[in-house]
Amino acid sequence: MEKKRAQWSSKLGFILAAAGSAVGLGNIWKFPGRAYEGGGGSFLLIYLFIVVLLGIPLMLTELALGRASQTNIVNTFKKLGYKQHSWVGWIGVIGAFIITCYYSHVGGWVLRYVFSYAFEAPAIYRDSLGYFYNMLGLHADGTTSIPWTALFFAALFMLLNAVVIIRGVEGGIEKFNKFGMPALFLLLIILLIRSVTLPGAEAGVKYMLSLDLGKVTVNTFFSALGQAFYSLSIGMAILVTYGSYLSKSEDMIKNTAVVCGMDTLVAVLAGFIIVPAVFATLGSGEVGKGGGFAFVSLAGVFAEMPGGRIFGVLFYLLLLFAALTSSISLIESIVAFLTEEFGWTRKRTTIILCLILFLIGCLYTCSQAAIPLKGIWYDGVNGITHPALCDFMEYLTDRIMIPLCALGCCIFVGWVWKPESIIAEVEQSGFRFRLAKAYTVLIRFVAPAAILAILILSIFSGVTLS
Ligand code: PHE
Repeated sequence: MEKKRAQWSSKLGFILAAAGSAVGLGNIWKFPGRAYEGGGGSFLLIYLFIVVLLGIPLMLTELALGRASQTNIVNTFKKLGYKQHSWVGWIGVIGAFIITCYYSHVGGWVLRYVFSYAFEAPAIYRDSLGYFYNMLGLHADGTTSIPWTALFFAALFMLLNAVVIIRGVEGGIEKFNKFGMPALFLLLIILLIRSVTLPGAEAGVKYMLSLDLGKVTVNTFFSALGQAFYSLSIGMAILVTYGSYLSKSEDMIKNTAVVCGMDTLVAVLAGFIIVPAVFATLGSGEVGKGGGFAFVSLAGVFAEMPGGRIFGVLFYLLLLFAALTSSISLIESIVAFLTEEFGWTRKRTTIILCLILFLIGCLYTCSQAAIPLKGIWYDGVNGITHPALCDFMEYLTDRIMIPLCALGCCIFVGWVWKPESIIAEVEQSGFRFRLAKAYTVLIRFVAPAAILAILILSIFSGVTLS
């Protein structure tokens, strides 16, 4: 009954698709702000340490789980003979579902901004906050309306996802990433050169290289840890699914290291683009504003910069590619689950799923401003900057579900299925796992302890995880 399972056609195809999943909005607008808050160079150092110590082993674990089981994350546990652990997979798939609802809408806003910079740049420069809220349905006179523009572009963004996913693993996802990822790197290089050659940018570059240990606190560690998980797409259904399409002859350790390396490189480059550009144009205090920063504060940077409009279009194109390759991976992992478990066709599943995701996401976009349902989706206390639904969706996924799924994977592999099974899976390709002992200690003790610490801290103390 089972059809032959899809597979990446080449090593490069897999690497670009996995890196495409990892490199996303998180790298480009979350990372630079966090690096700034964490003291620049000191944060970078801590982040790199965490990626090597925890990021690479955890990514390897999820990829190897997928390759061993040759199935989606929910079925993985059953296939390996431990059906009672399927809850870990369910958390992953449901988490991916919730993230996609809002991630794809933010992707739509990014798409809107590519056009905005191309055709309406002066309007953004005049009042960047007003322009942003106007897109979301809140107008200068205090009235609200359905945010048709934002919804239209979110629908377009979803359509782009669907078109790629319907074409399948090799013909769609791999092909798109082979084009999208090099384009993303090219845009990064162009923007990097533009940013660091701005007069006054040296202060920002220096800041990003400075080791100011006075700014490092326990929170810096947790911020770096949470950022690394989110950025590497760990703790979701994705890496298991992408690993299941990986050929048995691939060197998994090398591939994992390359993917983690690419993701980190993009984050660091984005840091070296945004922080120096903001220092040069707005002054140091403006960095680190989180989400709205990408749409609002950056306008000041482009307004000040020679050729700012062109660079604005390029920047949002960069964000668009990053968001698309990530949302494709999120949707694919749900499609893989639905098609395999229920025998539905890829095309029909993708269309229905994308439609549902889009419709639920509409609540997210609308709850930003246009539908002030106080107390339900909208807290009505903090005003338009803290709609309750958005906060809740992000809180649930970033702070609870991602670490819980990652913890479940560590415990399953460390104590139930045993690290030897992962080591055997890795060595199946004919490569020796030289650091097998260190891996065993990490997956059994270090990683679960670190994840448990973030979970507890983020639930009880409000330390943000993503
Ligand atoms: N890693 C992506 C980013 O950096 C986000 C993401 C998280 C994608 C989880 C898939 C799963 O934006």
